[in-house]
Amino acid sequence: MEKKRIILTGDRPTGRLHIGHYVGSLRRRVQLQEEGNYDKMYVFIADAQALTDNVDNPEKVRQNVVEVALDYLSVGLDPDKVCLFIQSQIAELTELTFYYMDLVTVSRLQRNPTVKTEIQMRGFGGESIPVGFFTYPISQAADITAFDATIVPVGEDQKPMIEQTCEIVRRFNHIYGDTLVEPQIMLPDNAACLRLPGTDGKAKMSKSLCNCIYLSDTAAELKKKVMSMYTDPEHIHVEDPGHLEGNTVFTYLDAFSRPEHFAQYWPEYAGLDELKAHYQRGGLGDMKVKKFLLKILDETLEPIRQRRKEFEQDIPAVYDILRRGSEQAREAAAQTLDRVRKAMKINYFDDAELIAQQQKLFNGQA
Ligand code: TRP
Repeated sequence: MEKKRIILTGDRPTGRLHIGHYVGSLRRRVQLQEEGNYDKMYVFIADAQALTDNVDNPEKVRQNVVEVALDYLSVGLDPDKVCLFIQSQIAELTELTFYYMDLVTVSRLQRNPTVKTEIQMRGFGGESIPVGFFTYPISQAADITAFDATIVPVGEDQKPMIEQTCEIVRRFNHIYGDTLVEPQIMLPDNAACLRLPGTDGKAKMSKSLCNCIYLSDTAAELKKKVMSMYTDPEHIHVEDPGHLEGNTVFTYLDAFSRPEHFAQYWPEYAGLDELKAHYQRGGLGDMKVKKFLLKILDETLEPIRQRRKEFEQDIPAVYDILRRGSEQAREAAAQTLDRVRKAMKINYFDDAELIAQQQKLFNGQA
């Protein structure tokens, strides 16, 4: 049997999605969708996972489900081609998580780098970490394997989750026989896209740092943010040589600019390498580079804003899309669960052989 190509990925609904999500993952998803080289593609809203570390703010998660759905639809994910669903609506995922919990040790979870940093970041001392949060890598393994996903396009920070998923798959298959499919991670191919810094030059875009450019920002908000972006603090006068390292404007150009943009907006330069060389030599002001970046970002984001505006007019239709997707996803997960229960031999009522054999045993015939 030829292995199917099943693509799956998701996001926590803790806020609107920003351009870091876009270059890190969303743009790739739309590309994959358009290439159409897959048997099935799932993109989902990980609300249950978001609850694991928003215990005190469930309303935030609830309100952001539709925001993320709008972001998905406005970047061009097409519900006719991709199954869009809400994690919490797939009850099978919790059942699968419960079985996987037997296959993972506490020390293995403690060694998961993502869990480790998050424990430190949030200052959960020793034992005070919520169990649901601690075990979310296991539930993520359920998200992936319930759909037999073979390809998981995510950011670099998710690497430990995929590794842990593969371990669970191998362990399950070792104990119960070949049942689950091992997924492969798909990372962005460009370093700038792997982790887009915030507009302030800080390592990560994060809502609490107010350094995000959101997909839903207006043209005016975008302009304000780009014009006040962090560049090179040593590049004071135009004629000073500029540095590219840590220069957020150039990192964004790495992530967003294409040769056509130069032809269209700045034909004085053949491409990004020439622009960079001039900047490093000195004689090129930050404002000019920012204006160029703004044009590129505006061109990229305008169609997204337009589509968002349309979908915002009909929120019931957005929920309908999610409901239909969730029904579809649930059917797929239910099939996997049937397979899992059979492999684990806990499908007692369908197991006529077990029942007959035990009857013999009790009759003293075995
Ligand atoms: N952990 C992912 C994030 O924080 C969201 C997520 C949950 C996910 N389950 C997943 C991503 C399964 C890919 C596959 O963004």
